[in-house]
Amino acid sequence: MVTRREAGPWRILIASSHPLFAEGLRSLLHQRQQMDAVVVGMVSTIEEALHALRDLQPDLVIVDYDDEQVNRDEFLARFVEGEGRLRVVLLSLKEGGQDAIVYDRRTLAASQVEDWLDEWTGTRRPERRISPNLPEENEKSKVPEQSLRRGNMKHAIAAGLLVVVLAVAGIFALQRIDLLPQTASLQAIPIDDLFRLDFTAIVVLFALIVGLMVYSIIVFRRREGDTTDGPNIRGNMKLEVAWTVIPLGFVLYLAFVGSLALGRTQAADPKPLRVDVIGSQWAWRFDYPDQGITSTDLILPVNKQALLTISSTDVIHSFWVPEFRVKQDALPGDGFERELRITPSEVGEYKVRCAELCGRQHYNMLALVKVLSQADFDVWVQSMVTAIPEDPVARGDLWTQQFGCRACHSVDGSPLVGPTWKGIFGTQEQLTDGSTVTVDAEYIRNSIRDPGAQIVAGFQNLMPANIGADLTDDQIADIAAFMESLK
Ligand code: CUA
Repeated sequence: MVTRREAGPWRILIASSHPLFAEGLRSLLHQRQQMDAVVVGMVSTIEEALHALRDLQPDLVIVDYDDEQVNRDEFLARFVEGEGRLRVVLLSLKEGGQDAIVYDRRTLAASQVEDWLDEWTGTRRPERRISPNLPEENEKSKVPEQSLRRGNMKHAIAAGLLVVVLAVAGIFALQRIDLLPQTASLQAIPIDDLFRLDFTAIVVLFALIVGLMVYSIIVFRRREGDTTDGPNIRGNMKLEVAWTVIPLGFVLYLAFVGSLALGRTQAADPKPLRVDVIGSQWAWRFDYPDQGITSTDLILPVNKQALLTISSTDVIHSFWVPEFRVKQDALPGDGFERELRITPSEVGEYKVRCAELCGRQHYNMLALVKVLSQADFDVWVQSMVTAIPEDPVARGDLWTQQFGCRACHSVDGSPLVGPTWKGIFGTQEQLTDGSTVTVDAEYIRNSIRDPGAQIVAGFQNLMPANIGADLTDDQIADIAAFMESLK
């Protein structure tokens, strides 16, 4: 209380065009005996307020919250953030009588007004900051300004150090942990470079965001008993321009290096090994048109570019060998074949995965990939050419594996999506339309050529319509012979 007496009564400037507002405020203040305050003037425009500030030297500006003629945003901007940094309070007396609502950059309920009055009248009183007539006070006010700036610099250096330490530790950890699978093709190299650049950028961003956040949470936390508000910050043009332009530049740079990497993965060898990759629910088939062979495994010679022409017989699949990095959808329909170039760089065994959800057995749509030396590859091609058996049953067995039939039809009686073939040949089956049919060579051929025509009761029409398009009648006869053998 002593300090208040020394400093004199509170000098209040009212910003309102309604005389009644001043009356209401006066009676509100009178009710509080310990309140030592005088209303020094009343203004309704910012110009009047600036004059009053110089002439009357108020400690506090109380703005009539409900007076639409007073531009309260302007008052807040000029006095709270502007040159004055005077305390500005928005007050609404609309509730009438003894209640009031105070907007002290908080919104208080009428019942909290008492506490608020205690807060700014009882114990704390702002230093007079704007006093153009008193130069010695002006000098004084510069001291906290400077130490404030020094404090800010200290925080910036400490938080900056934390960010740098986090970023360096993150990049160090990133180099220790290998996040990527084995790199087994030439096309994987530019993609891995891109990944590493991305990971590094992500680690730096993480350090920047989390570092500043953790520093702020710890250093600027609310202390016991502190009920003051933080500074009212409206914006910072330099900062906003910087955090827009720098990321934009970086993203454009990523687009540029990304397009270079895309170009490198598509670089064409004039004489590649051609392989047609056909996906169907739920198996892969690999045709080698120049060698005249078909395989259920993808066999490739090392260090020679393979040109894969990828298609699908039914739905969209996606050809993906993680170690080769590149990936391509397999699309159904003529003219939708897509090309992918892979130059395997490491001898070894990998797996083709289907990377597009394509139905019940999607998870199991796998195929073996073997990368062999050129000599071993030639031996394999030779063995495939001579491997087509004389026996029609054995040939039928081979075709049903190569064309993916066995993904849906078991040969041992176990239930899959389609009927098992074990013991099916020669039986009478009831069809969905109620008629019966004998499972013979003719029914098998019809079912391959037109899978939807005669469906066995209890099964859905799930067989891909084009699955047999590449099968000859002789091959279908082999398949019938194979099924007949499955007693
Ligand atoms: Cu084919 Cu998933």
